[in-house]
Amino acid sequence: MDIIRTPADMQRAARDLRRAGKTIGFVPTMGFLHEGHLSLVRIARERADVVVVSIFVNPTQFGPNEDLDAYPRDFARDEALCRGEGVDLLFYPDAADMYPANASVYVGEDRLSKVLCGASRPGHFRGVLTVVAKLFNLALPDVAVFGQKDAQQLRVIQQMVDDLNFPVEIIAGPIVREADGLAMSSRNTYLTASDRRDALCLRRALDLAEQLYADGERKTHVIRQAMDESIRQAPTAQVDYIELMDWRTLMPVETIEGPTLVALAVKVGKPRLIDNTIIAYK
Ligand code: PAJ
Repeated sequence: MDIIRTPADMQRAARDLRRAGKTIGFVPTMGFLHEGHLSLVRIARERADVVVVSIFVNPTQFGPNEDLDAYPRDFARDEALCRGEGVDLLFYPDAADMYPANASVYVGEDRLSKVLCGASRPGHFRGVLTVVAKLFNLALPDVAVFGQKDAQQLRVIQQMVDDLNFPVEIIAGPIVREADGLAMSSRNTYLTASDRRDALCLRRALDLAEQLYADGERKTHVIRQAMDESIRQAPTAQVDYIELMDWRTLMPVETIEGPTLVALAVKVGKPRLIDNTIIAYK
């Protein structure tokens, strides 16, 4: 596995691979890797000749009061995990190289990115889209794999690729969970032992939504209220949002008729955790 530290070297390596006729599968991450990330690497491996993983804690997607400095990092461990998965190229750039001081162009999205996490975290998706666009231009992937865990991110990136004609196929990987149902996340490391128990309220609320739908409930306000009451059972949980949205448009839905994203963000102790499921998905 080669470790590449600069944007210029990454782009050169990707061009060489493409010239040699290799297809490139790409998995962008912010590191502190877990099984969720590694599942995406395995998908990329199946879909391309060469797998590129990036590790970059992207400053532009963190708000001023967010956890940029505290975000967990362990490059030696990440490197070993990538080697274990047979990653070919690991791109690990510095922020100063990714964002030269005179940078003044950004990628923004005006509709899908304004709801859910975009409403709670202004500027977040502008940071995500800008860095993903840059990483696509450096890793030159044929396919890029993103987790359904960040469902809105996946949707917003697909829209960018469609609207700006990026020659990249976006593939979604299913949410990987701990044995008890908590969605894996680098931020789970912030949870104390008691927060960790309360954190199960997210999965429990999603199970409840799926059950109500299976029992015939179609009114989203009924489902939302039941989820809200269920989450309130967890002493330290504070709901940021519980939303049921059309999976394509991310517009609120009153009556479930087609694929519907049930998404929630809940602060449990220190971290704000997100999770989701899609119901009525055929
Ligand atoms: P990060 O949070 O490190 O996640 C990297 C990728 O792993 C994302 O596509 C995310 O959806 C996926 N992922 C995280 N937890 C997962 C889980 N439990 N199951 C399946 N996939 C999971 O998302 C980002 O980084 C950044 O915003 C990034 C796209 C790298 C841009 O900076």
